[in-house]
Amino acid sequence: MLKCPYIYCLPGGREMQIAIMGFGTIGSGVAELLLKNQKSIVAKSGHNTLDIKYILDIRDFSNHELGKYFTTDFNDILNDASVGIVVECMGGTTPAYEYVSSCLKAGKSVVSSNKELVAAKGYELLELAKENNVNFLFEASVGGGIPIIRPISQCLAANEIGEIAGILNGTTNFILTKMIEDGMAFEDALKLAQDNGYAERDPSADILGHDAARKICILASLCFGKHVYPDAVETEGITNITSEDVAYAKNWGGVIKLIGRAKLNDSGKISATVGPCLIQNHSQLASVDDVFNAILVRGDAIGDVVFYGKGAGKLPTASAVVADVIDCAKHTAKRKAFGWGPAEENYVIDPLLQSTSLYVRAETQDYVTAFNEVNKSFESPVILHREDEPKTEIAFITPVMREKEARAVIEKLPIKVNAVLRVLDY
Ligand code: HSE
Repeated sequence: MLKCPYIYCLPGGREMQIAIMGFGTIGSGVAELLLKNQKSIVAKSGHNTLDIKYILDIRDFSNHELGKYFTTDFNDILNDASVGIVVECMGGTTPAYEYVSSCLKAGKSVVSSNKELVAAKGYELLELAKENNVNFLFEASVGGGIPIIRPISQCLAANEIGEIAGILNGTTNFILTKMIEDGMAFEDALKLAQDNGYAERDPSADILGHDAARKICILASLCFGKHVYPDAVETEGITNITSEDVAYAKNWGGVIKLIGRAKLNDSGKISATVGPCLIQNHSQLASVDDVFNAILVRGDAIGDVVFYGKGAGKLPTASAVVADVIDCAKHTAKRKAFGWGPAEENYVIDPLLQSTSLYVRAETQDYVTAFNEVNKSFESPVILHREDEPKTEIAFITPVMREKEARAVIEKLPIKVNAVLRVLDY
């Protein structure tokens, strides 16, 4: 076996070999962290060594300082019985699903940072892990370095969770912060997020909300016990947010954030959404800026608890991956009981059936009539204002009511609607 020059080895025997699949931002961060903190990581793992044996990547890394660990052949990992833990940081579902399934079937525990894979195939992979008495862990798939999967499944296990919501995408939060606070152009802010290693390979997954949708699927599956697939999540990104909306939100005493949210209703069904929402400045989520994420969990015993930290980036995410590696190493004899079940048809309901308050920005040729109609149609709406507001524009916030009904009322108003955003009460 190739020995890493930095390997720390305690006297006495139990050895654990690791393979890393994918040497992009996260995979290279995992290797870096495993080597940097080798001594303490090994000490915490319950093993005497924790060695990287292979790094799988199709690109040529022969000149890299870790060049000797690289392979382009997945079978090197699959067929090597000494590899007990495989770290998957490839992204996407193909070939990640096939590789992860094969590893689990071969009796290897798998740690993944791949939210697309977990959101699409989490239930199947957790079942495979159970059948083969190994672990499939994915702390890094949501919230980057923030501990959230383990706290929900362990520390909050005594609670019935009614709702989970959060700022789940570092790239969009970074872009929004730079645009709002520094007046930076969208493209420049995105480029900076990409340079910092926050954005997805295809950043449209960030901007259009798909990345946050995958994360809310994982969180909802964990909180409510049934797998939620991304196509069931109503998803909207940040591309339609305008400076007018930002100004109205500011004058109202709030901010616009991209919020992923899943809520359980009385009949045991859930709604799941990702979209830009207004939240008040006193909300625990309002001051979460830059690449930071925050996730609010509402439990019946704990009340609201918020997890906060760096939601993307090389080492913060590697921190969560390596913690899972240590957990897998500690649970080689006995698998951790962890997972969720399948969902029945129509488990995820239309969010329009839930109650909410809505922010509306619209054009009108006759402000006085529009103002009177808004006040007549809703009980105590809040009329909003902004600096240099044109006389042809009206903006307001509806009372809390069933969203479907609120939208039906809005449609009948003598206005041309330009924006409708949910207003949340966290
Ligand atoms: N592109 C993701 C984000 C990376 O910006 O949050 C972390 O999942």
